[in-house]
Amino acid sequence: MLRSIAPVSVLLTLLSPFTTAQQKSIDAEGHQWWQHAVFYELYPRSFADSDNNGIGDLNGITSKLDYLKDLGVDALWITPCFPSPQVDFGYDVSDYQNIDPMYGTLADFDKMMGGAKQRDMRIILDFVMNHTSDQHKWFLDSKSSKTAQYRDWYVWRDGKGQNQPPNDWLSTFGHAAWTFDPTTGQWYYHFFYAEQPDLNWRNPAVEKAMFDVTRWWYDRGVSGFRLDAVDTLFEDPKLKDNPILPGTNQYGDPNMDNKYNTKLPEIHGVLQRLRKVADEHDAVLIGETWTKDIAELKNYYGAHGSKELQMPMDLMFMTVDKLSPPEFRRQIATVDSAGGWPVFVISNHDKPRSYNRYGDGQHNDPIAKVMAGLYLTLRGTPIMYYGEEIGMENNDPKRKEDVQDPIGRTGWPKDKGRDGERTPMQWSDSENAGFSTAAPWLPVPPSYKTHNVEEESKDPNSILNFYKNVLALRHKEPALLEGEYIALNESDPNVLSYLRRYKNGAVLVVLNMSSAPQKVSFNLKPQGFGGAKATTLVSTGAPTGEVNLSELSLEPFAVYIGKVSK
Ligand code: GLC
Repeated sequence: MLRSIAPVSVLLTLLSPFTTAQQKSIDAEGHQWWQHAVFYELYPRSFADSDNNGIGDLNGITSKLDYLKDLGVDALWITPCFPSPQVDFGYDVSDYQNIDPMYGTLADFDKMMGGAKQRDMRIILDFVMNHTSDQHKWFLDSKSSKTAQYRDWYVWRDGKGQNQPPNDWLSTFGHAAWTFDPTTGQWYYHFFYAEQPDLNWRNPAVEKAMFDVTRWWYDRGVSGFRLDAVDTLFEDPKLKDNPILPGTNQYGDPNMDNKYNTKLPEIHGVLQRLRKVADEHDAVLIGETWTKDIAELKNYYGAHGSKELQMPMDLMFMTVDKLSPPEFRRQIATVDSAGGWPVFVISNHDKPRSYNRYGDGQHNDPIAKVMAGLYLTLRGTPIMYYGEEIGMENNDPKRKEDVQDPIGRTGWPKDKGRDGERTPMQWSDSENAGFSTAAPWLPVPPSYKTHNVEEESKDPNSILNFYKNVLALRHKEPALLEGEYIALNESDPNVLSYLRRYKNGAVLVVLNMSSAPQKVSFNLKPQGFGGAKATTLVSTGAPTGEVNLSELSLEPFAVYIGKVSK
């Protein structure tokens, strides 16, 4: 039986329009598909609105696949698009195996998947593992009685006394991490909002059900998952109180060291087993891992020969909130030496946009290019955030009553929430930035008039065209794909320079992170390149053509990328 099936499947593979790179998951160098892919995070509410109701949807994404392909993106990570009461805008999932009607249907999902495959792009979904929505049928059953079938799928405990939660743990979104449920007289645990009860990962039935969810999506064609909030999967079974630190946070709660409810060692067993399932499907696991040092990063790659996450996100890199060559050098060196494949991220849906975090208010556009010149040319996989490529800026709510993200209401005015970095993609200078004819769920910032896809496509010097050029280069330069990272001029406080060396060739990257002109010189003999010249590949505010490496003049915030040879 098997013998007769095999040739048919081989034939189908050969005839399929989805062959080529989709099938070539390992290259001649032994690299997996995700090591050479550029990932692009998109927030479905805000990317493109096909039915003009002010909220983005899957058909909207499908309609923009050509744009994404042309930009140079290989894999899309779509933040949660599953049925959800939307308390945390999809991070409160009420059904893991469907699409929220607000975003479309499973048929729309399949259409998007087909469109992506035709263009040789992959789709990654967001797997919210730590918690479900309080409206998920598992939780509705769980809270119904102490003996309910799903009772032990969540973390229920008696309080310490009348109106006293089981311990001092705090929700990262403010106030107690326990909510009392009068039906059974017990408290349930939630690291995030009360509407996001934590699953009990000590229960093997939870693991099985959740792993099956990933299998179901793999069978539908997805190429991996971004694993949400993995640091928080387990809690100390004895529920020890966390140490209290001096001071209070933006919600007025005492500062706390989350010693007993985050980063517990049990997490790694789950991730190793989840990796086995992923490996059966040639899939990638990207972790939302807030690692604080190299030891934690190594553990997420898989300690002692175990295989865990291929791509723990290096969110440490995102904490360098200033243009500081020494800081970046330090972070890059840490990630580069961790023994896994580096991942670089400069923005996401939880952090103010990089345009504002790095911008000085005067040179934000050239600075956006400097940052692109950095994370798109390092050794590793970059994950872009939608709108970075056009220099979208943060648009924080001006009034508390306009805030959508609940933490912005709890934390106002110290913490205005995350609406600012989630505004609609800016497609043109027409009303609502061409995102929707209806008023969008969040307002676009005034800069959409100049920073939008249509306008920037026409301008050869735009941020968008800069991204396109660097991404195109990244795809075709073996040194940028495969080359080792070698830091250069390591004591320069203003200019970050490095070489990506591969076999006989190398690409030199020079980034002036200062507002003053700079002169730099390179002697690349020790690295095996005595030619003292470079051929320019990308230059903004720096020389072009054949360049003498003994003196390279850089304008403020210049980017120079050139090829050097022996
Ligand atoms: C992650 C997500 C964030 C969400 C939280 C709870 O940190 O990135 O947006 O609110 O998990 O799921």
